[in-house]
Amino acid sequence: MSNTCKFISLCNALEVPQGAAVKLEKEGLTLAVFNVDGAYFVTQDACTHGLGSLSEGDIVGDVVECNFHGGAFNIRTGEVVSSPCSVPLKIYKTRLQGGSVEIEI
Ligand code: FES
Repeated sequence: MSNTCKFISLCNALEVPQGAAVKLEKEGLTLAVFNVDGAYFVTQDACTHGLGSLSEGDIVGDVVECNFHGGAFNIRTGEVVSSPCSVPLKIYKTRLQGGSVEIEI
């Protein structure tokens, strides 16, 4: 078995407006693609606290607030910004390639 990582294409960058997020399912993963000031970041979509979907959360700058209980995460790093969340988000190495948002898996 090889451990080689590969990039997969998620969507056209134009599908994710600035300051917004889009939910996508790919390769068995449920992901949130964020556009923060024209830079793209991809995290797991599921809140680490419960059933919240972060692509439906409120985005302020590079922070997303879960719309279930108000916990918040840094979109760039996945770190918890506010409780009740305590477990960071999984984030993915992301790049733009030919207008597509890609992540390394
Ligand atoms: S499910 Fe997200 S803060 Fe509780």
